[in-house]
Amino acid sequence: MKYSRITGTGGYLPSRTMTNAELEELVDTSDEWIISRTGIKERHIAADGETTCDLAEQASRRAIEAAGLSSSDIDLIIVATTTPDLVFPSTACLLQNRLGIQGCAAFDVQAVCTGFVYALGIAEKFIRTESATRALVVGAETLSRITDWTDRGTCVLFGDGAGAVVIEAADKPGIISTHLHADGQYKELLKVPCGVSTEYEKMRDGTAFMTMQGNEVFKVAVNTLGQIVDETLKENGLEKSDVTWLVPHQANIRIIRAMAKKLGMSMDHVVVTVERHGNTSAASIPLAFDEAVRDGRIQRGDTVLMEAFGGGFTWGSILLKY
Ligand code: ACO
Repeated sequence: MKYSRITGTGGYLPSRTMTNAELEELVDTSDEWIISRTGIKERHIAADGETTCDLAEQASRRAIEAAGLSSSDIDLIIVATTTPDLVFPSTACLLQNRLGIQGCAAFDVQAVCTGFVYALGIAEKFIRTESATRALVVGAETLSRITDWTDRGTCVLFGDGAGAVVIEAADKPGIISTHLHADGQYKELLKVPCGVSTEYEKMRDGTAFMTMQGNEVFKVAVNTLGQIVDETLKENGLEKSDVTWLVPHQANIRIIRAMAKKLGMSMDHVVVTVERHGNTSAASIPLAFDEAVRDGRIQRGDTVLMEAFGGGFTWGSILLKY
């Protein structure tokens, strides 16, 4: 059984930013409300015609380059997304073709905001069982396409973007442990209430939008993320102080602060992008991780805890030595 380690990271954000002031023009909200309740100041929005795969391709090329590899070295592609370009082929297959790769396994994972944690957890197991040696793992979203721009309860929260990592087989960790969970009984609290086999007409008429009971989601998220932090530390016999960096899913600064408090961590050791990116769902953790690696905050040898919570509900964590 081999271990796996992250050897390259990449991120990509659409060029257009949307400020809270612009949202004040669309719905009954205020910059002050959005910042105080969420921490978000602006988010990036994909241009007309710019797709999830377009964002994923840019992030992937950067991650492959950072790993010192070329596309042909990749032998597994997993894309975490809730907003695929097409019903099928998967965004991973579209991405594979863009990158000029043929033959390796390529598939999408749908776990909403926990998608990247799921995808990395799966890729890690492929490498451990020697079914792959160099995997490209991507979180990419164009959530703006399923956002109801007349619903102030959701439209202030989300943004578009993509993040990617390359993981490679290694003799020692690397990825120390992965923890994946779901509980479908909460499906009503956060969803897009239509799809291919249900209420397909909403997909056709462009009203396939997210709905969320934000307050209820918030309570379960804080509780559940607290439990996953405990589970991760206990399983690895670690103390809170052993974690160098927290790279949380970027949904809300209040949830992020609660997790930092739970770990007894100063916010200086928490990677925060939510104020500039909003909630980019599956892209948020790899985008944040890439930023902190590239600006030198996260160093080789640091112990990093990633945690996420999202629709499903799904939740999970990854503990790794960078
Ligand atoms: N601007 C102004 N007022 C607003 C806005 C807005 N954009 N949105 C809601 N309000 C109002 C509400 O109508 C309510 O008014 P009322 O008291 O008159 O009824 C008041 O503000 C308070 O609303 P709450 O929903 O209780 O506000 P809360 O403090 O819970 O913040 C938020 C809302 C930001 C959505 C928060 O609940 C949250 O972050 N929830 C969790 C989101 C999350 O983690 N999602 C999971 C991942 S996402 C995924 O998987 C796709």
